[in-house]
Amino acid sequence: MKPDQPTFEYLITHREDLLAPPLAQDWPNLPIERAEGAYLYDCYGKRFLDWLSGFGACNLGHNHPRVVAAAQAQMERMVHAPVGVSTPESTLRLAWELGKVMPGGADMFFFGNSGSEAVDAAIKLARYVTKRPGIIAFIGSFHGRTMGAISATTSKARYRSGMSPYLPGFYFARFPYPFRSKAPSPEECAQEALDDIDRLFEHVIAPQEVAAFLVEPVQGEGGYVIPPPGWLNELRRLADQHGIMLILDEVQTGFGRTGELFAAQTFGVEPDIVCLAKGIANGFPLGATAARADIMKAWGPASHGTTFGGSPVSCAAALETLHVIQEENLLANARARGGYLLEGLRSLQGKSPIVGDVRGVGLMLAVEFVQPGGKQPNPTAVGNILNRMLANGLLCYPCGHWAQTIRLIPAINADQAQVEAGLEIFTQAVLAEGG
Ligand SMILES: Cc1ncc(COP(=O)(O)O)c(C=O)c1O
Repeated sequence: MKPDQPTFEYLITHREDLLAPPLAQDWPNLPIERAEGAYLYDCYGKRFLDWLSGFGACNLGHNHPRVVAAAQAQMERMVHAPVGVSTPESTLRLAWELGKVMPGGADMFFFGNSGSEAVDAAIKLARYVTKRPGIIAFIGSFHGRTMGAISATTSKARYRSGMSPYLPGFYFARFPYPFRSKAPSPEECAQEALDDIDRLFEHVIAPQEVAAFLVEPVQGEGGYVIPPPGWLNELRRLADQHGIMLILDEVQTGFGRTGELFAAQTFGVEPDIVCLAKGIANGFPLGATAARADIMKAWGPASHGTTFGGSPVSCAAALETLHVIQEENLLANARARGGYLLEGLRSLQGKSPIVGDVRGVGLMLAVEFVQPGGKQPNPTAVGNILNRMLANGLLCYPCGHWAQTIRLIPAINADQAQVEAGLEIFTQAVLAEGG
């Protein structure tokens, strides 16, 4: 008998009957009642340190008071206004402010609602402007779930099965993954990945038919894979050589995650088009596709559009998010806390044979787990460690093709005590599994 007025507890235990299975079977389905700063609180009063940060959307922690106040003030003035009909002031102000800080001189924006939409818009823009069909994406990347974004997504075949055919015109090259490469050095690993592109150009699609390279500067969902230094710059060089656009998907790396405002700055690469979402509005739904005016102005009127994209409330939140990052010196904080955490994780690596690789840039860190004595992925250990951490009040999440990697993404305003507490819980959970 279904209750007429179910409790939250009842609803969460019946989630499989209410939410579509791809979502409802996800882990760990915590009955979170409220969130504040670095912490989540469940309906039993248990507190969790959140090192997933809302899938990387809450870079300033949850319910940041300045961001909430900015959104509230905007809500009182106007909740919705479709851009183009009654363009909101906050949307224009956000474009103005972002234009001052974007890599590659990007100063014009198409605002959508999500990362997938930002990627779709980037694909449309690149094809429209170059009049070329081809998109070269990279094995192991995650760009989202819409039919456009999933056509470029290869982090797991599971995400693609049963729903093909995908968009034509997508080609895939290797993303350099030093830990899993057979190449003897990161430089040679990067070269192998570049050779793949040459092979595509020679055998599959001529470079003159390629509109864009679409790439995450650091692969996120695919395993927090950091490319060797210089690889992104080589992509830039190839793009220039062949008139191809370089699209950086900064949906996960953007807004301070890598210790600079954008990973483009961390790696010293100039994109033509940038995809933004997640951390842009600290939890409010917003995505953006950014490019220089000379590119953006070649995109024909009415060839793309949106009802909710560039919502005045989300844009007001985004504007305040940007101010907080700048005024509170959070990029330096991300670098300092990230450096401390990376050092702690590296020292753990020496104590546990199941820690295969430790990597990170800024506060975008990960530990890849292996079977002792080899490099075989160890998702079982990951599952056990995640559950043990959760029991001790730390929420982290896996990534990587086999779910063999744990990502650690605290808020970029994390304080030293939180980082030490999280590191201690993580360390104990790993040592209990394989010390
Ligand atoms: C790099 C990257 N691009 C795109 C997306 C898709 O974003 P959304 O889930 O907001 O559509 C994600 C989401 O995880 C992502 O990590």
